[in-house]
Amino acid sequence: PTPESWRRVDAYLTDTLVGHDPVLDDAVHSQQEAGLPAIEVAPVSGKLLNLLVRISGAQRVLEIGTLGAYSTIWMARAVGADGRVVTVEAEERNAVVARTNLERAGVSDRVEIRIGRAADVLPSLVGAEPFDLVFIDADKESNTIYLDWAARLGRPGTVVVLDNIGRGGEVANPATTSAQVIGTQRGLEMLRRDARFDATALQTLDRKGWDGVAIALVTDHVTDAAS
Ligand code: DHB
Ligand code: MG
Repeated sequence: PTPESWRRVDAYLTDTLVGHDPVLDDAVHSQQEAGLPAIEVAPVSGKLLNLLVRISGAQRVLEIGTLGAYSTIWMARAVGADGRVVTVEAEERNAVVARTNLERAGVSDRVEIRIGRAADVLPSLVGAEPFDLVFIDADKESNTIYLDWAARLGRPGTVVVLDNIGRGGEVANPATTSAQVIGTQRGLEMLRRDARFDATALQTLDRKGWDGVAIALVTDHVTDAAS
């Protein structure tokens, strides 16, 4: 497939199954206006996150990497009025955009933005109720740290979604020198090797190009979660 052909299919699938929502379109627009990078998940993937939350019945969602809250809105809608999304964002200026977008979407009451490096913020979430679904979409170099926290802050049955596992095909290059791709490879190796996870991954071709998503289940090898 050429970029033109898969973008046409992405547009077709988006039009057919996802639709166009002014609130989500506004979130993307305001993120662009603020000069944030256009690396939010594609609409088809936002809808996938929304469905995974609902399929799993997740009430407590943890997101690592908020950006402008596009994916956050998709998941906040899915948890419903009694659910909760905790989203961790390292960049203060991203969090400002995210807060505005969440308010405009009418879900700010069910979303808590925690500002700081995730490696610093995540330990402070120990002791709360376990998360039912964790979406990891931050600096790829830290993927193994984030996966470890996903297991520790989760429970057997927690769903873990890891974004950007294809990286334009580079993920299958053992000689890559990209720190991001190496972080991605280490994350996938951890999902195989670490008994706390059972996982697979899918390549994706959408408006963002050739990439992919890993989906894991936290196993019962996690017993004393959050300790
Ligand atoms: C990048 C990060 C992402 O989370 C993404 O979905 C696409 C690109 C990046 O840092 O290049
Ligand atoms: Mg991503």
